[in-house]
Parts: sequence; structure tokens; C-alpha cells
Amino acid sequence: MDGRGGQAADRRARAAAGAGVRKRHGRHYTPVRLAEFLAERLLEHVVPHGQLRILDPACGDGELLLAVHRAAARRFPGIPLRLSGYDLDPAAIEVARARSAGLRADWRVGDFLCAATELEDCSFDAVITNPPYVRTQQLGAATARILSIRFGLRGRIDLTHPFVASVPRLLRPGGVLGLLCANRFLTTKAGVNLRALLRAELTPVELYDLGDTKLFEAAVLPAVTVAVRGALRAPCRYVSAYEIAGGEPDSGVDLFTALATARDCSVRHDGRHITIEAGTLDPGRAVSHRIADARDHRADGDEESAVMRAAPDPATPWRMSRPEVDAWLRRVQAGTWRTFGEVARIRVGIKTTADRVFISDRWEQLLPRPEPELLFDLLTHHDLEPWRITRPRPTRVLYPYDVSRPRRTPVDLAEYPGAAAYLAEHKDTLAARDYVVAGGREWFEIWVPQRPDLWRHPKLVFPDISVAPRFALDRSGAIVNGDCYWISVPDIGSEMLAYLLMGVANSALGLRFYDAVCGNRLYAGRRRWITQYVARLPVPDPSTAAAVALAAWVCACVDDGVDPDRQLLDEHVHAAFGVQGVP
Ligand SMILES: C[S@@+](CC[C@H](N)C(=O)[O-])C[C@H]1O[C@@H](n2cnc3c(N)ncnc32)[C@H](O)[C@@H]1O
Repeated sequence: MDGRGGQAADRRARAAAGAGVRKRHGRHYTPVRLAEFLAERLLEHVVPHGQLRILDPACGDGELLLAVHRAAARRFPGIPLRLSGYDLDPAAIEVARARSAGLRADWRVGDFLCAATELEDCSFDAVITNPPYVRTQQLGAATARILSIRFGLRGRIDLTHPFVASVPRLLRPGGVLGLLCANRFLTTKAGVNLRALLRAELTPVELYDLGDTKLFEAAVLPAVTVAVRGALRAPCRYVSAYEIAGGEPDSGVDLFTALATARDCSVRHDGRHITIEAGTLDPGRAVSHRIADARDHRADGDEESAVMRAAPDPATPWRMSRPEVDAWLRRVQAGTWRTFGEVARIRVGIKTTADRVFISDRWEQLLPRPEPELLFDLLTHHDLEPWRITRPRPTRVLYPYDVSRPRRTPVDLAEYPGAAAYLAEHKDTLAARDYVVAGGREWFEIWVPQRPDLWRHPKLVFPDISVAPRFALDRSGAIVNGDCYWISVPDIGSEMLAYLLMGVANSALGLRFYDAVCGNRLYAGRRRWITQYVARLPVPDPSTAAAVALAAWVCACVDDGVDPDRQLLDEHVHAAFGVQGVP
């Protein structure tokens, strides 16, 4: 198998354009083996009616349509195939044309989003696509706005969204979409457009989260979705593939064969150990119902049917449903009082947008030097372990605000000659951030200062990106950097409740809940601990004896400078939720 197929495909795309053009037009070609996998999974659901009309709306050098051709020749011999490919890039279309000599293929240079308006409804039996992934920043705000209005999209869009939005009309009823795109849409808030599009006129039938299989050179983790036009009642297969550290694979087949088998196993791919998990798609139902409903229904033994009655909501991330995990989640939810997000506001740290000017661990050596009253200890992801703050480096931030005020109130620089002289030396850099001034701020301000008066209070702090949760309680009055998130104890309401949250977050139950419900993973097992995920973590009823015992025990350990014993922690947390363990 071509393990480094991603690099070969990216070489093809690179040969076709420079980096700027690639980014602007979202040019990341599909590796051959992945193209074949997508084509196979697509054709699995196609029922030919006389002939097969297949479209790739952003076809590049034709890899996907050529893969369909090879797979269809094996699967449907004798059925005529008509391939249609569009691309903005004339050179790529030239290559596609040369590669498909002798086939019935129609290659066109042009903007598909315009060309689509000329195409009749139900023109195709299948659409296969790896659409351009171009973010709003690259598209420009005006283009993004026009596309949003035209395709009924909301929030932050990328070019993938209008491409997918134009597909359903072009498919005949029962026609099939095979989509390769970034997996972010599964679990992020910004994925709402794709989740909604893939469930409006289409029904997903197969979903593969290809996680950190490194199939692309680009830092994009891919997903494959196969969806049929029309409403089907069959469950959607959901398979994920992520690297695990160490161990030996239990299967000798290659990654794609294992994915297609849709059974739990682990394989070697590209020298790494990849674990494959299979289940079905929960499009935001089982965990989207109100926790209170689950508790009410538990009383009359009807919690499962309450889950099934709730309608899927595109705002809720998609997750993999597995019977034993779902049963465990229902038990956790039955023992849940509120979520972290319901208990308190979860904030990101400060963002200076000029770290070199505002952040240093060598302020003493600088001249001019800002006054010590404006220099604050800064917590970054380097400083956080589970339960404790370590601060290996004395990093401090120049924070030019009145920290007694809840609202951003810049200090009067005339009262701080050292800071004034220091900032003046960097005025060119700082004033170049024209968005700061355009946003009604002084040129020497930081971009996201957060709530100045809250820093002095105790807070829970945790890094944004971390394999395992690293929640710690800070009492030092330090400021939190933008690579971390924080929850202020005054917002939480009491220190004991803060200890309870920290206990749950750092436990095996917290991590399992995160994986089952939020499911966001980056390369090498790293997870993102950002507001939208942390907000969903469960909190047990703090008035129960088990929760009181958990909070008191965590408090005693942390205050004594001793890390809570992991096994005891998990026992306490399970008792507080009334569950036996984690699946
Ligand atoms: C991610 S690449 C995929 C290429 C090919 N289908 C593959 O999978 O290897 C996306 C392609 O979309 C093309 N593209 C970008 N904007 C387009 C548009 N508005 N209409 C048609 N093609 C477009 C780019 O030139 C690029 O070739």
C-alpha cells in the first residue's frame, strides 16, 4: 500500500501551483489509495439505472473520477459511465484530460459554483468530491457573505460548505454523495453548516473519521462521508482511526481494508499503530436532550425512550454511538446535576497579538523597564500539570490596565514613565496592529485583556491542547495566557464546587466523557480543552454525601501539595455520579 500517498498527492498539487495559489484555491489532492477507498464506499450505495453519471465539481487532476472509473469497471461491468469534472485550474484539467484518454469524460475549466446554476436537477447518479477547503480569511469577508446568503449558510463558512450545498439538487433521488473533507465539522461549533447540509436532503450512510492517519501532508485531519439523497431509516456506520502509543496491532490487513470491514481492531499504517473503532452515528441526539429530562425519565424507567424521542440538532456535534458507551453515558447523565458550562463561564486567556513586546521572562534586564505594578505573572501551558502550577520560567506580562475594574480600563501612561518609555520604543510594532485602534482601543493595549478585576481571585486553569486534562487551581493572582482557559472561582460560587469540578475534570470519567461526547482529537492523541467542549463536562449534585467527600478529599490533597491518588480519585468520582466505572 502507498503509505505516504498523502505526500505523493501533495507533490502532484504542488507541481500544479505555488503555495499561495494552493491555499487560495484549497488545492490538496487526494492520495491514490484514499481516492480508491472513497470511490469503493460511494459505489457500495449506487444502484445503476442504465448508465452511471458521476460528477466531481472540483476535480483537480481527475484522481477521484479515475478511481470511480476503475472501481465501477469491476463492480458494474457493462454499465456505461459518464464522468464530469470541473476545476478552476486549466493546467489540472489538461492533466485530467490526458489521464482519461479513451474514457467518456467531460472536463471543464470554470468556477463550479457558477456552472452549477446551469445544470439541471437530478443530473447525476453520484457526486464524488474533495472540495476546496478555503477559510473565510482567504475568501475575504465580502465573498463569504455573498456565498452565505446564496447558499443559506450561517456563521463562519469555508468553501467546502457551498460546494456541498450545491450537491443535493444535482443528485437524482437515491443518488449518492462521497465527500472527503476536514473532520473538524464532526465536532466543532463551526461544523454546524455541514452537519445541517448532510442531514437536510441527504442521509449519511457511512462516516469515517480518519483522524491522525496522516493521509494528507496538510495539517488537516480528514473524514469521509457517504450520504444518499432522500430519507433513509438505516443507521449510519461510523468508523474512526487514531494512532495509539506503543503496543502491537491485532490485525495484519491494511488500514483501508480494516476501515471497510468496520470492526474494532488495530493495524499498522505507515509505521504507526492505528486503532480502529466502529459504531453508528449519533447526530446530536443521545446527549443533546436536557439532562433534567433524563433524570425525570429515570424515575419512571423511561430514560432511553426520552433519548430516542429528542430530534437531532445540527448545533450539537456528531458522535460515535456504541451500545456500552451509550448505556454508560445515560448512567452518568442520570447522576449529573449540571454541566461545567451551566455552573460558570469558561474563558480563554489573554491574547496580546504582540507577545514579543508584552511577554518576557527577563524584564529585569530591560531598559527602559515598565513599573513592577504593571508586570504580572503569566500562566502558560508550560506551567500547568494536573492539580498544580509549576512555573518553570518566571514569565510575566506587561498588562497596562486598571486591575480593580471589571471592564477594560487602560492605565494613564503619564503615571508610569517606565512603561510609557518601553511601549514608545515598540510603538511601530504596536501601532501596526491597526485593528486595535480601529476597535476603539489605545495603540498600546493588548487585543483580548479579559476581565481585569478577576485575575486576583482563585481560578481553575487548564491548557487548551493537552493529551490528558491538566486542571489546576491558581491562587497566585496570575494572569492566564491565550493558550489556556480558566474559570473564576467567584463565577463558580464556592471553592468546594471548584474542587469538585477539578476532581471530575482530571478523572478517568471526565476523560472518557470527553472522548464519548466531544470526541475532538488532534495528532498523537492530543485533545482540545476549549470552552465548547469543557462546557459539556458533567458535574454531580454537590449536595450529596459522595460529592461532598470527593470535593473535600481533592481539597485536602491539593492543599497538602500531594497529587490525589488516581485510583482513589476515580472511586470518589464514580461514587459521586453513582456509576461503576468507565467502559
Ligand atoms: C482539494 S482539491 C481536490 C482535487 C481533486 N478532486 C482531488 O481530490 O485530488 C480542490 C480543487 O478545487 C479546485 N477549485 C477551487 N475553487 C474552485 C471552484 N470555485 N470551482 C471549481 N474548482 C475549484 C482547485 O483548483 C483544486 O483543484
